[in-house]
Amino acid sequence: MLIETADKAGFCFGVERAIKLTEQTADEYGEVYTLGPLIHNKIVTDSLEKRGVRIADSVEQAAGKPLIIRSHGVGRNTENRAAEVCSELLDATCPFVKRIHKIVSEQPENSTVIILGNGDHPEVQGIIGHAGCKAYACMEFDEVRRVLDECRASGGNAVLVVQTTFDRSRFLEYSEKIREEYCCVKIYDTICNATSERQKNAEELAMRADLMLVVGGRHSSNTGKLAEICSRYCRTVFIESASELSPQILEGLHSDSIIGITAGASTPAYTIKEVHFKMSEIITNNENEESFAALFEQSESKRLYNGAKVKATVVSVKPNEAVVELGTKHTGYIPLEELTNDPNASVSDVVSVGDVIDAIVTKVDDSQGVVFLSKKRVDSALGMEKIAASKEANETLEGVVTQAVKGGVIVVTNGTRVFIPASQTGVPRSGKLEDLVKKTVQFKVIEINEQRNRVVGSIRQATREVRDAERAKFWESIEVGQKFEGEVRSIEDYGVFVDIGPVDGLVRTSELTWNRVGHPKDIVKEGDKITVIVKSFDPEKKRVSLSAKDPDENPWTKFVEEYQIGDVVKATIVSITEFGAFAQIIPGVDGLIHISQISTERVTNIANVLTVGQEVEAKIIDIDTEKNRVSLSIKALMEETAESAETEE
Ligand code: F3S
Repeated sequence: MLIETADKAGFCFGVERAIKLTEQTADEYGEVYTLGPLIHNKIVTDSLEKRGVRIADSVEQAAGKPLIIRSHGVGRNTENRAAEVCSELLDATCPFVKRIHKIVSEQPENSTVIILGNGDHPEVQGIIGHAGCKAYACMEFDEVRRVLDECRASGGNAVLVVQTTFDRSRFLEYSEKIREEYCCVKIYDTICNATSERQKNAEELAMRADLMLVVGGRHSSNTGKLAEICSRYCRTVFIESASELSPQILEGLHSDSIIGITAGASTPAYTIKEVHFKMSEIITNNENEESFAALFEQSESKRLYNGAKVKATVVSVKPNEAVVELGTKHTGYIPLEELTNDPNASVSDVVSVGDVIDAIVTKVDDSQGVVFLSKKRVDSALGMEKIAASKEANETLEGVVTQAVKGGVIVVTNGTRVFIPASQTGVPRSGKLEDLVKKTVQFKVIEINEQRNRVVGSIRQATREVRDAERAKFWESIEVGQKFEGEVRSIEDYGVFVDIGPVDGLVRTSELTWNRVGHPKDIVKEGDKITVIVKSFDPEKKRVSLSAKDPDENPWTKFVEEYQIGDVVKATIVSITEFGAFAQIIPGVDGLIHISQISTERVTNIANVLTVGQEVEAKIIDIDTEKNRVSLSIKALMEETAESAETEE
């Protein structure tokens, strides 16, 4: 077994700097306070305590003493208060965190700051405390979308910064979506290199390893993140120190397994060395026991040996195994789980009596005259060759999801198991990986380790390629006036977004129906299927404006066919403004009675004369067919009535 420690593990630059400053200050003053534990590592904080470093829960607790602001940083108010009450203020805020403080503090009052990160984490709270405008911490993309929709509706700008320890792949996924959907967001990549390097390093090691040991404080968020990343690829154990290791840790490992070690940014080098040393000791003890068992087994095997590749003829198919003949005195058995990598397949799905197959000997028992074999190992080796060729040609592969495992799913293709990490399945965090089981999926191969017989794939990548191709085709073929059957995805105050295939289009409220609408919710609900027509589109900004109004139902056509200037109509007042009142002549066509056309008398307050819902008689005095506007006049009618009364007299 091999133990490998990640190149980048343990104290980062910011933590090392904070610890050095704290130790120097403690040596100089005898006693110094830190605002909260300096780092999330009990071993380190205990040793600092012995050196005179005390932990203050608030600035007031350190009044009159030297106070150190730890690498996470704090908000501006806390900084100012500490400068007032402490004898000395020493700032160990990491320069990478300082950079985020600077970005957010420079934003104008009317903008919005989004911090991708955990709102309960002191670093994020400190960043919020430096913003002079609205600031929100978001972990999930739905939260980001909510803030950005609000920002877009109010016509404001937004900036997005990232907690230094945020998972880079999630940040990239969110950024891509933001760029696709919004144009008013400036994105700053503020993930700390130390964090991303450690994460990348740990990820690379975890892909090769069979077991990962992640060393660090239980409350350290960056160590927790490392453990989460590693667990996507192999068994991962989170430990604080070497004392938590025991021989049981080796369960499930074999003689050529790789054990990886990585550590959070707050883990000192000596703790990592202790873990490495203890692990070596456990392995050495175990190997001594195993070599004795191997020698014993070899002495029992005479003609067939483990690992030999043989031709076998299937002589019987049973529910749990296939019985085979090998041309020796032995009877061969291939258990179902060694026939195929698909846990859902039966023996008869894989072999039939008379089949001649290649298999590998896994165990020989000469005393009983039986041999156990594996067909799936041969298939898997052949499958690896095919998979490697597909990766080379950048082809998309197809396979069946056979099981959901910790951190992802297993897909079987060409007799080979392919691991798809959860983040690459396309299943949302709230979804269930189990729902994919037994489904046929398409995926891209992103990693092959032939020595370790390990393949990693991505359904998302294959889906993204298909989606990108569909989108490109969509933008090439879209035309104004084109009709789509769409589904209402979301409802906003200003309209609804409709899924029309590769993209969502916006139907503004005024384009939902020919009639007057209060709120889009009065007309449609999410999930409704509606017919829409393309009004305009912008392939650059990836925007499509749609209309749900049926041109055949255009009330204007009906209106101009039936009415003309001079006609007297009965109309219902539907709204009152400062300059006049709108009255509905027929559904979908409102006329304006300008304030000067309401009465022969001077009108100063329309509400004193007209009320919404009131029915009035008015004369059509103008029809603007260009702008679809009708002007009405009650005054004209009054004048006519007065004139005819005079004539009669
Ligand atoms: Fe600073 Fe990065 Fe460490 S932000 S504290 S160098 S993890």
